[in-house]
Amino acid sequence: MWSAGRDAVVLLSLVSVLRCQADTISEFAEEGDDDHNHEILRVLPYTYNWTHRPRIPGRWLDVTRAAHILSFGAVSEQTMDFEVSLQVAQEWRDHRLANLTQNAWLPVDAGVQMWRPHVDFANTKSLDIATAEEETTMWVSQGGIVNLIVRYNIKASCPMTLHAFPMDRQICHIRLDGFDDTRLEWGLASLMTMNAEPVISDATAFHSQFKLMGITTKSYVTSFLPSVHGKGCTFSEQTCDYADSDTCQANTKLCADDAGSAECDKCLYYTGTCANTTKQCELLEKGDKSTYTSLEIQFHLSRRFAYHLMQMYVPSTFIVIMSWISFWIEIVLTMTTQSSRSHAMQEVSYVRAIDIWIAACQLFVFSALVEYAVAYRCWLAQKNDRRAIITMETTKLTENGTSPEHQPIEINGADEKCNGCNFFPAQNIDRACRMVFPSLFVLFNVTYWTFYLLCTP
Ligand SMILES: *[C@@H]1O[C@H](CO)[C@@H](O)[C@H](O)[C@H]1NC(C)=O
Ligand SMILES: *[C@@H]1O[C@H](CO)[C@@H](O)[C@H](O)[C@H]1NC(C)=O
Ligand SMILES: *[C@@H]1O[C@H](CO)[C@@H](O)[C@H](O)[C@H]1NC(C)=O
Ligand SMILES: *[C@@H]1O[C@H](CO)[C@@H](O)[C@H](O)[C@H]1NC(C)=O
Repeated sequence: MWSAGRDAVVLLSLVSVLRCQADTISEFAEEGDDDHNHEILRVLPYTYNWTHRPRIPGRWLDVTRAAHILSFGAVSEQTMDFEVSLQVAQEWRDHRLANLTQNAWLPVDAGVQMWRPHVDFANTKSLDIATAEEETTMWVSQGGIVNLIVRYNIKASCPMTLHAFPMDRQICHIRLDGFDDTRLEWGLASLMTMNAEPVISDATAFHSQFKLMGITTKSYVTSFLPSVHGKGCTFSEQTCDYADSDTCQANTKLCADDAGSAECDKCLYYTGTCANTTKQCELLEKGDKSTYTSLEIQFHLSRRFAYHLMQMYVPSTFIVIMSWISFWIEIVLTMTTQSSRSHAMQEVSYVRAIDIWIAACQLFVFSALVEYAVAYRCWLAQKNDRRAIITMETTKLTENGTSPEHQPIEINGADEKCNGCNFFPAQNIDRACRMVFPSLFVLFNVTYWTFYLLCTP
């Protein structure tokens, strides 16, 4: 049948394949008299009671799930959450539904009420089930395997620590809990082909200020009781590297009209490079009624740094360097300070990397200003008929945009006498500062970047 020789990579294409298949079948059915292939399951065997879960020997009913991340974004530091839209495919065996068809798979009418494992997202703030009415989302195989695909739009919480902002990395996760003694496991639903990973994503969907570095999927046993020994023991874990997905994203533009080539398939539905670990999990066998299984998808995110580099680090570096001009030219000093953008950022009680940078830059500029004042005073003592103009410009970007304040200050030369200036002529101070300031700034940079780029996990 249709599954033979199919090389569809993902759920989504699977859905469309199935839909196309159904279309072809119904065309055939209209043309010919043979109604055989036009089957759709509308009535269940009379012995079937949908409120009962499939009866099996032992405790756990195995349910495998796979997920297709359709979009991911709106990661917010302010509300500490993110939005994700995903298709969850799940598959389980229900012996009561075996031998209902001669075909490999039989679509099930949307109106049919059938037992299905409850999908419970543990850390969501809002959840929306978004499957179109007319879509067939459920199939039953000849052997009684039921396959169900449902699409969810989720807003899930993601607590973040911003100490290293904007060089920070975050891990956000989605957790699915299993009830009714179902043993949830990440796996490939049998409708999917062999080489697909259980969690795949649309590489093209990542527009946010975060870059997806990887996805980790976990299956583990956990418990209602806080003191159960072995709580949280993991029985399978897979880590996929998504660091390349951005390159792929750029390439898909070339692939726009070339869907179906292996390269474009890889980019349209990014699977990453994955490694499995399967672990012993005793709690699966020993666990009492208070234990249940959970699935987790972890998104490893790293902030895209280029924006902050251009917006913050480069301008403030230039301002610091500009403040050194006064060591060479003794008349005009322009000082510009930029306060941190508070826009869309939660006020935190700790110091972030960017705060340290801004404070340091302001300190450097301020020190240069103080140096200027000292040198100027000494210089006045030598020649007391000159005046200087200091222009200070403070640009403060607030939540509502820019509100620059220009405060030109004019300082008139004073006639006072400077006592210490005989020992420290203005030229000597400036000459020393030409060395000291840049050296200190380089030293600060080395320390800062080493710490945040190399030492912060
Ligand atoms: C299904 O099972 C429930 C509980 O065992 C029972 O109340 C209900 O009548 C049954 N439904 C049918 C159609 O047999
Ligand atoms: C389905 O058919 C197979 C082979 O004909 C048989 O062995 C099996 O018991 C049947 N299952 C059910 C639930 O009727
Ligand atoms: C991961 O596990 C699946 C199922 O157990 C297996 O088919 C696949 O080859 C494994 N992949 C790796 C990289 O070990
Ligand atoms: C931003 O603008 C709104 C309305 O224009 C005002 O209510 C709010 O106080 C402003 N916030 C700041 C931080 O200036």
